[in-house]
Amino acid sequence: MSSVISVVNLSKVYGSGFTALNNINLEIGRGQIFALLGPNGAGKTTLISTICGIANPTAGHITVGGHDVVNDYRAARAMIGLVPQELHTDSFETVWATVSFSRGLFGKPKNPAHIEKVLKDLSLWDRKDSRIMTLSGGMKRRVMIAKALSHEPKVLFLDEPTAGVDVELRKGMWEVVRALQASGVTIILTTHYIEEAEEMADRIGVINKGEIILVEDKAGLMQKLGKKRLALQLQGKLDAIPPALALYGLHLSEDGREITYDYDTRGERTGIASLLSDLRNAGIRIGDLHTEQSSLEDIFVSLVRKSS
Ligand SMILES: Nc1ncnc2c1ncn2[C@@H]1O[C@H](COP(=O)(O)OP(=O)(O)O)[C@@H](O)[C@H]1O
Ligand SMILES: [Mg+2]
Repeated sequence: MSSVISVVNLSKVYGSGFTALNNINLEIGRGQIFALLGPNGAGKTTLISTICGIANPTAGHITVGGHDVVNDYRAARAMIGLVPQELHTDSFETVWATVSFSRGLFGKPKNPAHIEKVLKDLSLWDRKDSRIMTLSGGMKRRVMIAKALSHEPKVLFLDEPTAGVDVELRKGMWEVVRALQASGVTIILTTHYIEEAEEMADRIGVINKGEIILVEDKAGLMQKLGKKRLALQLQGKLDAIPPALALYGLHLSEDGREITYDYDTRGERTGIASLLSDLRNAGIRIGDLHTEQSSLEDIFVSLVRKSS
């Protein structure tokens, strides 16, 4: 993997003395959609702000495209487009003027063809002469993305792009993000919607209380997702799993009344039929049974619980 962003031993302590980021190490591959998933207050915005050079690291180093974000701020920042969590969209300006002006802020020469392409890609072209304040919420968000793309960044940060956005608009936003990735932009989005990380990301980092507690390709997480659990309520009580059943990796509850069995839904054989017949042969009688799908949500909740 060739990294476009490299974060090494990053910590951030706010003036108040609060440690918002604690020794973060993170590599983000070129061309990926990386989702930073974590509950409110986890440190997502702080991490983005330090990578974008808006907040200073207390310790550690960050490079974007090989440029140190502190020592080589201008070069690093030129590679970055940022759509902040809080949108300021009460502007009387037109879409075209706003997006063009934003490009100028980066010292880039005018390029109407690029601005036109960005507006068309974001389905804003027919509103280019509209004042921003007259647009719908979804369009305003797209204008903010257009602004962030005006100077042709290689990396785009979207801080909670769909927080408070209804389901339909959210799906529209996902399409926009995928199209941006196809055009070669690396995308880092933060979200507290598990579903969004699951749907969009190539790679997922889970952050909680200022620490990265997991970074994994979505495919790897899907493998965990592919696991199902069968819970068997016993008619009687069991002291231990009989050795004859060791093969199944069963778990016996503390009260001895429930056995759980994890199996892979994508395997050709789940092993449930043979488990049930082996249980019968061992004289274990089942009262009730049900299955549970482990979801990214379960994984997330158990990770967050473990790290607190
Ligand atoms: N300027 C600040 N000064 C002190 N504490 C802050 C400041 N900004 C954020 N925090 C605290 O840092 C933690 C992480 O905040 P933030 O990065 O905004 O989390 P997230 O984006 O994941 O919701 C929170 O506990 C928040 O209250
Ligand atoms: Mg935030």
